[in-house]
Amino acid sequence: MDAIASMSKASLQWLVDTDAAHAASCAKRLGCKDSAVAADCFSDPAVDAVIIASVTNSHYSYIKAALLAGKAVYTEKPISHDPAELLEIVELAESTRLPFMVGYQRRIDKNFLELQAQCAGGAVGQLRVIKCCSRDNPLPPLEYLRVSGGIFCDMLCHDIDMIHFLSNQVPLEMYAIGHCYNADIAAMNDIDTVVVSMKFASGLMATVDVSRTASYGYDQRVEVFGELGMVSAHNVQENTVVVATERGYVAPRAQWSFPQRYQAAYPSNVSQFADLVRDKAVEEPAILRRHIDLERCTAAAELSWLLGTPVKLDSVDGLRHHLSHHLSTPLAAPPPTVDTAA
Ligand SMILES: NC(=O)c1ccc[n+]([C@@H]2O[C@H](COP(=O)([O-])OP(=O)(O)OC[C@H]3O[C@@H](n4cnc5c(N)ncnc54)[C@H](O)[C@@H]3O)[C@@H](O)[C@H]2O)c1
Repeated sequence: MDAIASMSKASLQWLVDTDAAHAASCAKRLGCKDSAVAADCFSDPAVDAVIIASVTNSHYSYIKAALLAGKAVYTEKPISHDPAELLEIVELAESTRLPFMVGYQRRIDKNFLELQAQCAGGAVGQLRVIKCCSRDNPLPPLEYLRVSGGIFCDMLCHDIDMIHFLSNQVPLEMYAIGHCYNADIAAMNDIDTVVVSMKFASGLMATVDVSRTASYGYDQRVEVFGELGMVSAHNVQENTVVVATERGYVAPRAQWSFPQRYQAAYPSNVSQFADLVRDKAVEEPAILRRHIDLERCTAAAELSWLLGTPVKLDSVDGLRHHLSHHLSTPLAAPPPTVDTAA
């Protein structure tokens, strides 16, 4: 919200948070009106666009209400964990032709943009292997994790989006293994460490390792191996000073967490959205529709972990009943047997 408040192409009208005291103090600082009820903002004719960054399980209903009220929408990920709700929002964004963006800020990070440009420009030829490493730091608060949708929906979705950004391909099959080291996370039936591999029709293979913590700082690296070479994006360090002594070389730590690492990317994303609103433009249909593929990949990975077997993307719908905790409206009773080799 600070980014909008300081932007010349938009002005902040409302700050809405169900924590009314928090809304009031933020609004006072940012110089706008406040409310604990989103309808106050959605019904205000002075509002052209809304930014949704509330708790994950509130996104769907806010996006829907905002689009139906004729407002452009920028939302934090995810749209919804429920594929029916996700499709409904994608179709609503298409039919209203209102500017709509989901915040996958890695796509606008300058390092990953350059990585993508190198891949798209043919620097390494045909892509053969993509390796992503995504380790959060510090461990998010337990109250956040409880409503996050779990490590697959909350974290892996970013890596799947990055692999799609780099390759413009959707995998055929996913295989995931995982473990939980943290007892509080285990008590939520979630895990804190995951390794996922995926195979694509072109022959491309990708792996992602995801962790809720990394004791040495936020760790997000990507390597792309192709027929002509290798291109990689490394962590951003706190500074560039290396101390060399007889004991060896001591380099600075990686930046502490995502607000530091993506300090420039978040406002750039919002600025991009403000341009869409100003120009009354919409994202390309393929960019909007990709959210449907990304959710299916995330579901396939989680199903693979749950079932202990590789899961083909085209078998996900038949297995979704195993993920019914994600759905607002649980699916009907599961079929009697599971054929994951289909
Ligand atoms: N793209 C990224 O890198 C990234 C990073 C962090 C968080 N996120 C996403 O941002 C969202 C918020 O995450 P956070 O870490 O800021 O969470 P948070 O728990 O710190 O803050 C959520 C805020 O929403 C408010 N809130 C809760 N329920 C609400 C409701 N129904 N209506 C309005 N306000 C409500 C809370 O009072 C709180 O102020 C999550 O959906 C998360 O997935 C994305």
